[in-house]
Amino acid sequence: MRRILITGASRGIGKSIAERLLIEGNKLSLGIRDINCFDNTGLDPKNNDNILVSQYDARNKESMSRWVNYTINKFGSIDTLIHCAGIFHRTNLLFSDEEEYQIKELWETNLLGPWYLTREVWKELKKNKESRVITLISMSGKRSKSNLAGYTASKFALMGLCQTMRNEGWDSGIRVTTISPGWVNTDMAKDIDIIDKSLMTQPKDIASIVASILKLPNSCIPFDISINCNLEK
Ligand SMILES: NC(=O)c1ccc[n+]([C@@H]2O[C@H](COP(=O)([O-])OP(=O)(O)OC[C@H]3O[C@@H](n4cnc5c(N)ncnc54)[C@H](OP(=O)(O)O)[C@@H]3O)[C@@H](O)[C@H]2O)c1
Repeated sequence: MRRILITGASRGIGKSIAERLLIEGNKLSLGIRDINCFDNTGLDPKNNDNILVSQYDARNKESMSRWVNYTINKFGSIDTLIHCAGIFHRTNLLFSDEEEYQIKELWETNLLGPWYLTREVWKELKKNKESRVITLISMSGKRSKSNLAGYTASKFALMGLCQTMRNEGWDSGIRVTTISPGWVNTDMAKDIDIIDKSLMTQPKDIASIVASILKLPNSCIPFDISINCNLEK
């Protein structure tokens, strides 16, 4: 049984991961913006002592320390951190003045959010000799195929951060995994029409990968998992 912090669990990939890890008997601490979003669902903390919900905004540092302290008070420790919260903008290289705010939003949500939260949890993770950090990146964090300069830059930077996390955590038994999908059938990909939704990677299948990683020992944790739903040449 793990004590797991998950961001982005209100919808999409993060929600599927939370649902799967709950079934597997873990304790879940879910950091979300709308703390009522699980009312009367399978993730409602009112019906399950293994679930804790705390207000969390990737762009608000205070919400992180509050969430982490609350979790330690209720569960006693934290041994797993899963970063799923993220946003997507089509900001390209020659962005307009009206679009400039998107670069700040992408940077703060996709990079600084995971960075600051990891910093907040790190001391707890170090206490356990088999802690895990799993981060949803994207194929856009590994190569640039189109003109998504803002999103791509934020995800490349996040990949760099995760490589450093791996280095810093290694001797303490913290193992870091990055998951980089192409298109996943969630709200984020709802406007994508180049591939049928049923042919995209499904969130529940990413949840299966995460559940498997959490069962592996320190000597067998993959750092970098790329997932393609279409052939990349
Ligand atoms: N879908 C894809 O095709 C795809 C492909 C590759 C990588 N990814 C990555 O996978 C991760 C999950 O994506 P998804 O497809 O599940 O997206 P999604 O369905 O759009 O869900 C995004 C999640 O991030 C949360 N979030 C956004 N901004 C936040 C903030 N400032 N503070 C706290 N939470 C915030 C959202 O919470 P609210 O409900 O409050 O908005 C929601 O839970 C992201 O990092 C994304 O970049 C997705």
